[in-house]
Amino acid sequence: MIGYATDPLGYLTRCSREYGDVVRLRFPGTLAYLITHPDHIEQILVKNNRNFIKDKYTREELSVLGSGLLISEGDFWRRQRRLAQPAFHRRRIEAYGETMVSFTERMLEDWRDGEVRDVHREMMRLTLEIVAKTLLDADIAGEAEDVGEAMGEIMDYFSDQGSGSFLRLLPERFPTPGNVRYRRAVRRLDGIIYSIIEERRRSGADTGDLLSMLLHAEDEHGNRMDPQQLRDEVMTVVLAGHETTAIALSWMFYLLGENPEAETKLLAELEEVLDGRTPTVGDLPRLRYADAVIKESMRLYPPAWAIGREALGECEIGGYRVPTKTQMFISQYVTHRDSRFFDDPEIFDPSRWLDGRTQSLPHYAYFPFGGGPRLCIGSNFARMEAVLLLAAIAREFRLEPVPGEIPVPQPSITLRPRGGIRMKLSKRRVSTERSEP
Ligand code: HEM
Repeated sequence: MIGYATDPLGYLTRCSREYGDVVRLRFPGTLAYLITHPDHIEQILVKNNRNFIKDKYTREELSVLGSGLLISEGDFWRRQRRLAQPAFHRRRIEAYGETMVSFTERMLEDWRDGEVRDVHREMMRLTLEIVAKTLLDADIAGEAEDVGEAMGEIMDYFSDQGSGSFLRLLPERFPTPGNVRYRRAVRRLDGIIYSIIEERRRSGADTGDLLSMLLHAEDEHGNRMDPQQLRDEVMTVVLAGHETTAIALSWMFYLLGENPEAETKLLAELEEVLDGRTPTVGDLPRLRYADAVIKESMRLYPPAWAIGREALGECEIGGYRVPTKTQMFISQYVTHRDSRFFDDPEIFDPSRWLDGRTQSLPHYAYFPFGGGPRLCIGSNFARMEAVLLLAAIAREFRLEPVPGEIPVPQPSITLRPRGGIRMKLSKRRVSTERSEP
């Protein structure tokens, strides 16, 4: 447990490399297994998914999301998922492409040649504005700083969870400094979410977006969702819908900045496909290298670095008995860096996704969006957003790491870069043409 508290990523990686595919973790008072083989992961997430619910740590860490889609269970979850699904259908998502690119260009108008910016902060703000506009038709630019700060407090709270301070052992209701900051952060987010909902309710408009779907949905008795449930669902898509994509993009820009060869290939593709234009959804099938860059970044730095489940009934995995209530740890970070599935696993090499090397991978050797019925509802949204934002930014700016500053992953609920990633911006000299606003 001490090893886990000080360095979760290193500890879990060592456990898996030294003790095999199913490892019993020594957590006080809790039976927990680390599961790293793709076949066993598939067994938990897909084949035998009905025997598992979300693990107790996830339930606790994501309590800010109430009973929203990410942690609700059973028939209630199924119904809510069906309700939200239409907002994520391919054709609907494609219509979000223009907003994604135009918001990116709005951000780039403030960027100056030669300045240093925290790319994580920039991406958090941008993806937040995009998710609010596309799914809730809300302009959240004025609140972005507030949301960013509150999210930072929440992530720090949970990444400090295992840091050994006795204060962390006290329940959330005790007024320790950490608990007070955490509760204040949740209240700030609540204020913003409730005002978005209230504004729409007052306007009475049915704009056909996710918020309208949630507001107008009725169950078989004609009842609508109560305000608390509405808040939980909106909070879930706002948080799940921007934090992870922003992290994926942040690590990606850092990795690209460190790998000029990959950057050169990316630029060649952007030039050939875009020829000086802004990217559109229609370009996506041809932006194959850009897509590989994102896949490879999420292999090395998966924004959701671990998934947890709790066994409802006894079962068997990889020849080991799994008793009821066992906490199952599955880590994208650990499996994505396993040399049985990826050659030179520590090396950033986007080409592996294009030259056939990854074609015969077991299904769950790479699973940044999870899998089975609880697969990320926003996976297509996120993939499209990541490629469009990468193309729109990289064609205008080169982002260089600041010498001597090496970002460190902070394994909290997500895999943020601790303290952000400062990068130097250099405006590219090629003449570029912007789309009309
Ligand atoms: C790179 C970006 C993203 C990553 C890496 C990611 C990752 C994940 C993962 C791993 C899960 C499954 C968790 C589990 O099985 O316990 C998940 C679920 C979920 N994600 Fe994402 N996500 C991303 C973007 C998004 C976006 C853009 C949205 C919404 C706009 C979103 C909304 C959700 C929701 C609502 C769930 C819960 C789904 C359910 O259980 O029915 N995510 N995500």
